[in-house]
Amino acid sequence: MRIPSTVLLSLMPAGIVAQDVFEPADFNVTEALLANGVNVSAVPDLAGLAERSLLSGCSIALIFGDAKVETQGESAYDATIDYFWSTQQRDAKPYCVIKPDQATDVSTVVLVSRLTQCPFAVRSGGHAAFKGASSADGGITVTFENMRDITLSTDKKIAAIQPGNLWYDIYTNLQQHNLAVVGGRVSAIGIGGLTTGGGISYFANQHGWACDNVASFEVVTASGIIVNASPTSYSELYWALRGGGNNFGIVTKFNLETFAHGPQMFGGQRRFFNTSFPAAIDAFINLGVNSAGDPKAAQFIAITLNAASGIKVAIAELEYADPVLNASIFLEYRAIPAFSDTTQLNTLAYFTQQLNNSNPKGYRETFWTASSKLDREMVQFVFDVSFEEFANIIDVQGIVPANTLQVITIPQLEQMQKKGGNALGISPADGPIFLINLSTRWDLVADDARVMQANANVIRRFHKEAKRRNMVNDYLYMNYASQYQDVIGSYGGSVERLKSVAKKYDPTEVYQRLQPGYFKLHGAPVENSPYV
Ligand SMILES: Cc1cc2nc3c(=O)[nH]c(=O)nc-3n(C[C@H](O)[C@H](O)[C@H](O)COP(=O)(O)OP(=O)(O)OC[C@H]3O[C@@H](n4cnc5c(N)ncnc54)[C@H](O)[C@@H]3O)c2cc1C
Ligand SMILES: *[C@@H]1O[C@H](CO)[C@@H](O)[C@H](O)[C@H]1NC(C)=O
Ligand SMILES: *[C@@H]1O[C@H](CO)[C@@H](O)[C@H](O)[C@H]1NC(C)=O
Ligand SMILES: *[C@@H]1O[C@H](CO)[C@@H](O)[C@H](O)[C@H]1NC(C)=O
Ligand SMILES: *[C@@H]1O[C@H](CO)[C@@H](O)[C@H](O)[C@H]1NC(C)=O
Ligand SMILES: *[C@@H]1O[C@H](CO)[C@@H](O)[C@H](O)[C@H]1NC(C)=O
Ligand SMILES: *[C@@H]1O[C@H](CO)[C@@H](O)[C@H](O)[C@H]1NC(C)=O
Repeated sequence: MRIPSTVLLSLMPAGIVAQDVFEPADFNVTEALLANGVNVSAVPDLAGLAERSLLSGCSIALIFGDAKVETQGESAYDATIDYFWSTQQRDAKPYCVIKPDQATDVSTVVLVSRLTQCPFAVRSGGHAAFKGASSADGGITVTFENMRDITLSTDKKIAAIQPGNLWYDIYTNLQQHNLAVVGGRVSAIGIGGLTTGGGISYFANQHGWACDNVASFEVVTASGIIVNASPTSYSELYWALRGGGNNFGIVTKFNLETFAHGPQMFGGQRRFFNTSFPAAIDAFINLGVNSAGDPKAAQFIAITLNAASGIKVAIAELEYADPVLNASIFLEYRAIPAFSDTTQLNTLAYFTQQLNNSNPKGYRETFWTASSKLDREMVQFVFDVSFEEFANIIDVQGIVPANTLQVITIPQLEQMQKKGGNALGISPADGPIFLINLSTRWDLVADDARVMQANANVIRRFHKEAKRRNMVNDYLYMNYASQYQDVIGSYGGSVERLKSVAKKYDPTEVYQRLQPGYFKLHGAPVENSPYV
């Protein structure tokens, strides 16, 4: 009998199961469920589903019991929907919400979805912006609020973190041990989306991105089998999970490498008016190019147009991993006249909360991304074009337009080569890379088309300019991309390899067809964008 029992597998040496065939052609979902302790025949509503192709409703509550399942009309269901950051994600109405306690529950959800063909989505911090990215309209939305353990290994080198954790919880927990991990810069972001998509951190120049610092993943595969993917077991799956998004499995535990981190570090913002923009652009470029000189430093510049005053502002966010007030690498930035300066020594968690305050929940939101070679003219161009397009939509109710400029530095790209490299398809030879995350917040659905068009305009003009200047880099960063952008398609040499990993671990395309939200292996989440 082919019982894909997780128990059996965990007793076998990795070499025995890591053969060419992970899921046999005659894989039997009903039997796999039985191995998880779920007898489909004993659940009346489910019994007939294996034969029927479409589901009238997800009968999953019968398996999990009421405590782990919320359905429409329950207040806990509403609370789950309200938890999403953007209102577009709140527009998706799942048939039910499942709150697993453990990886086996997640495995059962995947198998029930296969049996019933009911689509599903999983949510960690809920900060992906577009509808359906982490919630399944009419399907099953899995949330991890009951999976929030953070456990340190005895030698304190690895923090085992379940997917319900936000970076604030993670940093505050590890701070007690004078440790940190490479993770998000905003407190309310989840570990799940940020890490599987890449993960830019304050510590990226020293250690690489979040995905580069995952020692191993506990992951639920398409056949419900739970494996530990690391550089030495299921290494191809491990590679794919580092930047390949939700296409290969659901991660139920992130085993992150820790590093020593004192109680305080340096961080904060210096804000500039337009008279300081040329100097700010110089400082941005110089720090981006020279980051190897002191990889403890981190930066980004966000530009925004204030709707009430019409004033253009550039905000330089500066961090330094140690509690050093005037690190010499920031001297150029320091010399630029700022109308406000919040830089100080404080905790990592504090700085992430400051950024959370400027990204409140409950608005319409979109983000878009593009990359090029780092070049002063390109940065200047982004300033000019962004302000021009912002001005065209500045009358939109509740508008907060922004473009955040970053550098994927050579040290970051070098760190990405660790552990066999990640899936992003970029290398030190491409660097430094200029990366933008264009983001807009607004109030009303009625303004969606105008806002989307303005964002699309910036991206289109950016690509055209990069081409004109011979500065092209096609990389699209998943965590900053819109639903109209083909992220995986931008991964260059990684694309075919990712598809072959999926073919092996998910031959029936469960994570493509039954979990359709977010960035899939074949094209953008929404094809044929009306905004060109
Ligand atoms: C205010 C704000 C600040 C940000 N700051 C940063 C930053 O500093 N650095 C950076 O790199 N990015 C940043 N981002 C982008 C951010 O990384 C992405 O939006 C990311 O997807 C959010 O992760 P989440 O877990 O909160 O999102 P979710 O919406 O919960 O998930 C996003 C996607 O990841 C998938 N996913 C979630 N958990 C799992 C899991 N356990 N296994 C498999 N797939 C999973 C979901 O299915 C979904 O498709 C920021 C975004 C916002 C809105
Ligand atoms: C799967 O297994 C069940 C239980 O053993 C059996 O009744 C069913 O016919 C099998 N289905 C297929 C498609 O083989
Ligand atoms: C599953 O449930 C059916 C119906 O209750 C029962 O006949 C069958 O023996 C059960 N199978 C197992 C393996 O427990
Ligand atoms: C800066 O903005 C002000 C209005 O806020 C404008 O009058 C001035 O011309 C701008 N200066 C530059 C250098 O762009
Ligand atoms: C840091 O530099 C600022 C000026 O940029 C100065 O006012 C301050 O005293 C310096 N602090 C330290 C600790 O050197
Ligand atoms: C982030 O900000 C929101 C307000 O928009 C707040 O409700 C939430 O508690 C904050 N989260 C964290 C982890 O700081
Ligand atoms: C863009 O990046 C900055 C820095 O990570 C972050 O503060 C901002 O929230 C991001 N916006 C989006 C929508 O990802």
